[in-house]
Amino acid sequence: MAAPVGVRVFDKIADKYEFTAKFLSFGIMPYWLKRLAEPIRGGETVLDLACGTGILFPRLVEKFRRVVGLDYSLPMLRQAAKKGLSRVRLVRGDALRLPFEDESFDAVVVSLGLRHFEDLDRSLEEIFRVLKKGGELHALEVGLPENPLLRSLFLTFLRRVVLPLGRLRAKEDVYDHLFGSIIRFPHGEEMVKRLLSKGFSRARFEPLMGGIVYLYRAEK
Ligand SMILES: C[S@@+](CC[C@H](N)C(=O)[O-])C[C@H]1O[C@@H](n2cnc3c(N)ncnc32)[C@H](O)[C@@H]1O
Repeated sequence: MAAPVGVRVFDKIADKYEFTAKFLSFGIMPYWLKRLAEPIRGGETVLDLACGTGILFPRLVEKFRRVVGLDYSLPMLRQAAKKGLSRVRLVRGDALRLPFEDESFDAVVVSLGLRHFEDLDRSLEEIFRVLKKGGELHALEVGLPENPLLRSLFLTFLRRVVLPLGRLRAKEDVYDHLFGSIIRFPHGEEMVKRLLSKGFSRARFEPLMGGIVYLYRAEK
């Protein structure tokens, strides 16, 4: 399978992904993940969609009997395999064509993944399809702060720090990937409307750090 654009960068930085993500978030990323995971109701099976290096696995195995981590990037999955957690099954696959039966999961969790999918609507339809009735979607994604000063600081940080670092590591133009996609990506109320339009109910959002990231939750 030829890797989609949103995967190529991760193929190249897999070994440094967790360090880079923590560094670029000023060490705050574990707090975001805690906030994402804490309210998740436990159950039988959870899908960690775009699981990457499996940064969420330790939190998910505490709540679910079985954890399935899916990602398109083999190098990221290799890093995830090093976590060596039993009860976690790793699957290479595409978020736009999930290799699972309808209504397979009690919950789907997507941490910093939605923005990288080539077709957001399609990925939401797939998530909806594989969730059991009453199952929950929990997502974390980068957004844009509403406050003009904070927004401008955040955009400057992306342009001056994240982009040059991304270019250096990935050795290709990652502008669209690391910058354009954040500006264009629906956040807050707009994302809630998307979720509702795909059939989810009780869709809601919560901005963290003034809207630099958002948590989304919804039910099937
Ligand atoms: C920013 S990383 C997030 C990893 C992890 N969830 C975390 O919170 O650290 C985004 C991940 O999305 C994956 N990805 C991008 N497009 C994908 C697709 N179409 N199907 C599956 N995974 C995809 C990438 O390979 C990468 O591992």
